Amino acid sequence: MKTKIILDVDPGHDDAVAILVAAKHEKLDLRGITVVAGNQVLEKTLQNALKVCSFAGIDVPVYAGQDRPLLRDQVIADDIHGDSGLDGPQFPPPTKRAEEKSAVDFIIEECLQHDREIVLVPTGPLTNIALALLKEPRIKQGIKEIVLMGGAYGLGNVTPSAEFNIFVDPEAAHIVFESGLPITMVGLDLTHQAKAYPEVVERIRRLGTPVAELVVELFAFFGDTYKRVFGFEAPPLHDVCAVAHVIDPTLIKTQKVPVVVETTRGACYGRTVCDFYFKTGKPANVHVAMELDQKRFWDLVIDTLSKY
Ligand code: RIB
Ligand code: CA
Repeated sequence: MKTKIILDVDPGHDDAVAILVAAKHEKLDLRGITVVAGNQVLEKTLQNALKVCSFAGIDVPVYAGQDRPLLRDQVIADDIHGDSGLDGPQFPPPTKRAEEKSAVDFIIEECLQHDREIVLVPTGPLTNIALALLKEPRIKQGIKEIVLMGGAYGLGNVTPSAEFNIFVDPEAAHIVFESGLPITMVGLDLTHQAKAYPEVVERIRRLGTPVAELVVELFAFFGDTYKRVFGFEAPPLHDVCAVAHVIDPTLIKTQKVPVVVETTRGACYGRTVCDFYFKTGKPANVHVAMELDQKRFWDLVIDTLSKY
């Protein structure tokens, strides 16, 4: 039985690889790709999702979502992903068009048609997910779990405290984390264990296909910006970690603890506050990703990419 997922993205180099893996792995039934503003403005993240799907021949509906956060001012990550949001590779103009229906309406309709079956996999800001929960709370009945890339119990990346996806829309993240739904938070503490070192890039290059070459070019740009901005030796494949967890939960060790999102504007705005010692007296509401089985992770990613 395939796992039905909705992938909510803000492409974004790592989102692009998450789309490629989610669309091809035989364990997943990718019901739709919903797009949100994040790494770049919605117009660009939507085009990027359409470009990746067109290039790789991915026949999955793509839906345009929210173009701005619920309350705060817009933040983008052009320092990491470039002016297009997917700088580096040259894509042909997309042949695929977005659906007429909005991302939020698609999420609502899809979840209402199922009974605790849909896994939501957000790899960008949580604006679309939060709005769907606000607009139609009954969708909870259709959702099995939310496996999101975002947050951190250690250092942030967009501020010392906050990880980008949460920081872009802390109020949306608060709504999701307080929803009562089963949540797995695949944060920076985990995704920084998924760095695409040269030996991994070489294994992908040796696949010798247009999609493999695209991924190598994506990593080249992403690697340059991560080196310049963070001094990393290799770029972390954040978003693919969330998809990989859905495919094979044994790849990632998690710990269930209370997590709240800081929505007070200040130095910790957008921080995911993880209470490992249960000092707050709150119930554990989030499975926090702790440790990645890196060998099996990359084997899964490369094996899936080899199917294009
Ligand atoms: O902080 C990393 C996250 O922010 C990733 O999802 C990346 O694509 C950006 O959206
Ligand atoms: Ca992303």
